Parts: sequence; C-alpha cells; structure tokens
Amino acid sequence: MSTDTRARLSWSRLGLGTGTLASLGRAASISEVDRLLGAMLELELTVIDTADTYGSGDCERLLGKALSGRRQSFTVVTKAGYRHSNLPGPLRPLNQFAKKGLQSLGLRQCFTPAYLSKCLDNSLERLKTESVDAFLLHDPTLGTVMNEDVMRLFEGLKRTGKTRTVGVSSGDSEVLNAAISSGVFDVIQTPASLKSAVTIRPLWLECEARHIQVIGSHIFDPSCLGIPGVTHEMLMRGSSALLPKNAVILCGTRKPSHLSQSKNWALDPLPEAEAERLAMKFSAPG
Ligand SMILES: NC(=O)c1ccc[n+]([C@@H]2O[C@H](COP(=O)([O-])OP(=O)(O)OC[C@H]3O[C@@H](n4cnc5c(N)ncnc54)[C@H](OP(=O)(O)O)[C@@H]3O)[C@@H](O)[C@H]2O)c1
Repeated sequence: MSTDTRARLSWSRLGLGTGTLASLGRAASISEVDRLLGAMLELELTVIDTADTYGSGDCERLLGKALSGRRQSFTVVTKAGYRHSNLPGPLRPLNQFAKKGLQSLGLRQCFTPAYLSKCLDNSLERLKTESVDAFLLHDPTLGTVMNEDVMRLFEGLKRTGKTRTVGVSSGDSEVLNAAISSGVFDVIQTPASLKSAVTIRPLWLECEARHIQVIGSHIFDPSCLGIPGVTHEMLMRGSSALLPKNAVILCGTRKPSHLSQSKNWALDPLPEAEAERLAMKFSAPG
C-alpha cells in the first residue's frame, strides 16, 4: 500500500462487522443502523466491514442509506466472490432464497474478472458511493489470488478510483501466504480468535513487515466461548495482544453498548505472554 493511501485512510482499532445485520428474518431496521453508525462516530470508530453477499445485498443497501451525508467519516470495506441473487424492486425479498438455491446447485463462488468487476459496480450502487476504501476477494481459491487477470483487474480498479485499496479475506494459510507474497494486495482479513492465532500469527507479522493492513474477525469464536471460564472480554483483550498494533479488530454487533465495551477491551490488551498461553491452550487438539 502506498504511504499516501495509508495516510488518507483511517483504520480504527475496532471496526463494525456487519455479517448478520441483514440476516434473513431478523434484519436490522434503518433506524437501528443509523443509531449504530452514530454511536461509531461518538466512539471514533471508522471501519465498517461488509460484503455484497450479506443479506444478498440488503446489508449494503442499509449501510448506503445510513451513510448518507457522512460517508467521508467512515472507512468502508466490502468483498465479492460469493454468488448471490440481485433481483430488483418488489422481487428483492426473493434474493435470499435465490442465493440459497444457487448455493445448493454448487454455484457458490465465482472469481472471474468480469464477475468481480460487476460486483464492485453493484456494491457502489447499493452503498450509494463512488468509491469504497477496500475491495476484498471473499474466501478466494489459491488459483484466484495467483491469477494474473485478477491481479490486473484489481490494479485497474484502484486506478479508476472505484476502490482505494484491494485485499483478500480468507482463513486459509496457503491462500493468505500467496496473497501476501504477490505484492498486489494492500489489506488482509483473517479470522483472529485466540483459537486461530497460533496458526495465523506469523502471517500477521509478515503483513506488518510489508505494510499490509490486517483486519481480524471472528474474535468471539463460539467454540472458545464454550470453554468454561472464557469470557468475551478475555477473547477480545487476548486477540488484541497478539494482532499487529495497527490491525483493525472487527466486532459483529448491532448494539452500541457492545461496540463501546469491545472498544475498551481492544484498547486494553492482555499481557502478551498470557494471550500466547491462552492461544496455545485453545488451539490444542481435543
Ligand atoms: N470470510 C469472511 O470474510 C468473514 C468471516 C467471518 C466474519 N467476517 C466479518 O467479521 C465480522 C465479525 O465476525 P463474526 O460475525 O464472527 O462476529 P464476532 O464479532 O466474533 O461475534 C459476534 C457475536 O459476539 C457478540 N458480541 C459482540 N460484542 C459483544 C460484547 N461486547 N459483549 C458480549 N457479546 C458481544 C454479538 O452479540 P450481540 O449481537 O448481542 O452484540 C454476536 O453474537 C462479521 O460481521 C464480518 O463482517 C468476515
């Protein structure tokens, strides 16, 4: 990432994860999302992480409305690669069912340059913005992050200004390694729970050395929370101790009070040795 681009973007320590904001049957209302973004501004949180497939586009539509008049205060990250349906107007409620149909037919993902380019245009329309701050490949295959046509497309999307940075979201170390080595991607999103940290931490350090922005997700891994004595606070403060100092840590919530609490935890990491001990314990088999 060029020094210029990094300087212009504001990456807050805690960011909002929107994976369940428009879930089927329990989508947030526009006033809820409006309040949530208002709380972010009060808490000085800038990063919003979304994807075209969340709620089959409905999540980006909600964000587009709530961002109106304050787009410049946020750093918006979106992703593409999963197929979903984009039926317009009155047919929109059918999108989530059509997405499940496509997935059951084995048509889950597509990473052709033409498809990805169209996805970004659609995201920009839904988000009502001319440019996103980061456009990520959503769980790509190894072949995709090594594909020269995809790399050329991503470099071109930055030149057109449709996105300021490009990146990869994945939990696969081989894919992440290839993406980091390619020198093309500015942003890497990975799972960052204490359970994932032992495997993925060397990659975070590599990103730090190469000035690649890290975004950590899935902090409150239910399988960690299922261990007696483990709390949300322990998980957030533990991951914060192990992630690079300038990494963004996502919190998936629609509750302003949870955002505020999670921010305080993220800014108060556990001692590193304690976090390392917990990470070893949680990642041990059995
Ligand atoms: N492949 C990918 O690209 C990928 C994969 C996974 C996630 N992500 C991104 O990362 C985001 C976050 O990951 P995630 O969905 O796994 O969610 P997460 O942040 O690890 O966990 C969300 C859960 O934690 C609870 N929570 C949040 N703050 C809390 C607090 N202070 N106290 C108690 N509970 C709290 C939420 O409950 P409440 O709703 O009650 O607050 C929700 O049940 C996603 O929304 C998405 O943006 C990307």
